[in-house]
Amino acid sequence: MHPFKVLIAEDKVKERVSKMGAEISKYYQDRKTKKLVVIGVLKGSFVFLADLVRSLNVPCEIEFVEVSSYGAGTMSSGDIQLLRDIAVPLEGQDVLVVEDIIDTGRTIYYLLEHLRKSHRPHSIAVAALLYKPSRSVNQIKPDFLGFTIEDKFVIGYGLDFNNRFREIPDVAIYEEGKVSIDL
Ligand code: IMP
Ligand code: MG
Repeated sequence: MHPFKVLIAEDKVKERVSKMGAEISKYYQDRKTKKLVVIGVLKGSFVFLADLVRSLNVPCEIEFVEVSSYGAGTMSSGDIQLLRDIAVPLEGQDVLVVEDIIDTGRTIYYLLEHLRKSHRPHSIAVAALLYKPSRSVNQIKPDFLGFTIEDKFVIGYGLDFNNRFREIPDVAIYEEGKVSIDL
C-alpha cells in the first residue's frame, strides 16, 4: 500500500482503459486501416500502453518516443527535448500516440508537430489516460480520453514525481512530505 490519497482506484482505471481499447478498436476497424502504429511517450505512458494494447482487437505495432519536459518538481519547464525518436518509417501509416497525461498540452503539441513534419504518417490520433483542461495553454484535447481531472499533481499507473511512484497501481494525488525521497 502507499500513503497517498487515491484519485482513481486501480479497478476503475482498468475498467476505463479496457473501454478505451474497445473505442479505439472500433475507430480503426471502421477506417479499415492497413497498419496501426501505437507510439508510447516514455516514460509515463508505459503502464497505460501495456494495458491499452491488450484491450485492442485490431493488429498494431508498438514504438516509443521519449521526451523530457520536466526538470525536478511538479512544474513543467516548457523546454521540451526529444530524447528518443522513432526509428521506423511511419509514412502512410495510422499513428496513435499514447500519453499518460495532457497537462499544459505543450508536450503533445511539440510531438504532433514533430511526427507530422519529420515522419509524415497518414493519420495521427492521441489517446491520453488523463487530461487537465484547466492547465491547457493550447486547447489540444485527446481523441481518446480516460479521465478529465482537476489541477492536482498525480502519480501512479506510470506517472511519476522525480521518477518515483510509477509502480503504484492507482492514480493518486502527490503530497509533499508523505514519504521521504532523495531529490
Ligand atoms: P504538458 O507538456 O504540460 O502537457 O505535460 C505533459 C507531461 O508532463 C506528461 O507527459 C507528464 O509526463 C508530465 N505531467 C504533467 N502533469 C503531471 C502530473 O500531474 N503528474 C505527473 N506527471 C505529469
Ligand atoms: Mg509523460
